[in-house]
Amino acid sequence: MLLDMNATPDPRTGPNLFFASDHRRCDELWTKVEAAADTADVGAAALAFSVFDAAMRQHLGLEEEILFPALEDATGMRMGPTQVMRMEHQQMRGVLDAMARAIQGGDVDGLLDHGDTLMMLTQQHNVKEEGILYPMAERAFAGPAWGELAEKIARQYVG
Ligand SMILES: [Fe+2]
Repeated sequence: MLLDMNATPDPRTGPNLFFASDHRRCDELWTKVEAAADTADVGAAALAFSVFDAAMRQHLGLEEEILFPALEDATGMRMGPTQVMRMEHQQMRGVLDAMARAIQGGDVDGLLDHGDTLMMLTQQHNVKEEGILYPMAERAFAGPAWGELAEKIARQYVG
């Protein structure tokens, strides 16, 4: 079930599995952008990009609005890893903006070039989150504490 790349992951599975699965979902949506771009169909590439862009921004938003503040409250660390992740998110959003401008101008190659940059940033970023931050969250929110956060995530995920 969790390996179904297109399915929206279930937050009740815990922070590590949920956010890591959401990374995989975004990765999979990027392969769809590449596949659409390969056909040189600008409209299809634009559509696939808009789905990918929305998923990426939603993922970043869930972390910044729900996971990071909760983790900062739980650990008392406000200027640590969460702050580094926020800065990297801003960098990633900047590249998403460049991708949007490229495809709005019908520039499929530009979209893919910026996409390569984004994938490089994202991979390095995700390694840190999955290796450090999510396990930290897994420990900080063991038990009922996660249930409340999972509810919040579920509401924002569908809303
Ligand atoms: Fe992140």
